[in-house]
Amino acid sequence: MPTQVSQPNDRVEALVRTLEQVSQRPYDQAWGMPAAFYTDPALAAVERRQLFGQEWICVGREQELAAPGDFLTAQVGDEPLLVTRGQDGVLRCLSNVCRHRGALLAEGSGRRKSFVCPYHAWTYDGAGHLVGAPLLGKRPDFAREDCRLPSFACETWQGFVFVSLAAAPAPLAAQLAGLEALVRPYHLEQQQLRHLESESWPINWKCFIENFMEGYHLSPLHRETLHPVNPTRLCAHYQPGDGYFGYYAGFSPDLPRSTKGHPDLTGEEADRCVMAAVPPGLVIGCAGDYSSFTCIQPEGPDSVRLKMGLIFFGPDWPDERVAWATELYRRTMAEDKEVLVGLMRGLRSPSFTPGPLAPADYEGPTLDFYRYLSQRLGKALRNLGAAA
Ligand code: FES
Ligand SMILES: [Fe+2]
Repeated sequence: MPTQVSQPNDRVEALVRTLEQVSQRPYDQAWGMPAAFYTDPALAAVERRQLFGQEWICVGREQELAAPGDFLTAQVGDEPLLVTRGQDGVLRCLSNVCRHRGALLAEGSGRRKSFVCPYHAWTYDGAGHLVGAPLLGKRPDFAREDCRLPSFACETWQGFVFVSLAAAPAPLAAQLAGLEALVRPYHLEQQQLRHLESESWPINWKCFIENFMEGYHLSPLHRETLHPVNPTRLCAHYQPGDGYFGYYAGFSPDLPRSTKGHPDLTGEEADRCVMAAVPPGLVIGCAGDYSSFTCIQPEGPDSVRLKMGLIFFGPDWPDERVAWATELYRRTMAEDKEVLVGLMRGLRSPSFTPGPLAPADYEGPTLDFYRYLSQRLGKALRNLGAAA
């Protein structure tokens, strides 16, 4: 068993081998992964480099970067990032690390024409060029005009901003073509950000994704909150693609039908929420009237930073309706958090062994996630093995 192997590399290899075996099972014979998959620090380090350091990672909504000078900060893998809308209107993903001694240039988000390092006041423009270095004078061994912040790939999709630390990443849109067809009628790109919050949960990031992406728990865990809206019995799995997976969460027929939503939506589409993961860093609950999203940033094997937002279709949502939706969302997330924090304690139990997964409509996305991770991590380990 993987937990009995003590060397970190051996443990990771054993876990990925188990993952490959578990991933080969069909949906109706699927089982959960062993606890070490969610707790091993060596695997978390490999995920940080090979997933978060390579894949397209969502850092927020384009609306947060609407005007020249707008910026947000994010941590992806080991890179502190500064995502800016330059004075030229171009969206850029820059290193948030000063080229002098390595201080972080900015925290949080806001609007600035230039970025002044808090340490010794080196100054960069919104495109990352060094434009000031106090008292440094002219030096033959340092070309100030050539000094700039490293930059990384940046793309937008459906109003979301994605970045990639890979040197030449394959275009994001191609890997999401199938998902784009599913969400297109909802016009996520037109949905307006009305609620945004960020917090760390003391859980493994994969547990957050698995929880968000399965409908098995909706009725039992969210009895008072989500069950009346999206009961487990109305969940239906859909075929995953290379870069996404998910399920439909049907809206209860007992609810009054929302009149909000894009006219492109058919009745069937309006009656369900497209739950979608764009692993490893984004989950979306996409519906006609409003949608939720979470950007996922692991901080270690048992801590994850979550940037959670709600976006609404159309400009005419009264504040009290937004407040109602936000309250429902927060109560639901609090229920998830409580059970997942407990689950992390459960995973540390020496006597725990995983059980079978529920049928595909209810827990199929968990197997889809395993298959995604198996494909990406298996390939990464083989490449590392070949390079060694
Ligand atoms: S570390 Fe930024 S100016 Fe010194
Ligand atoms: Fe939940």
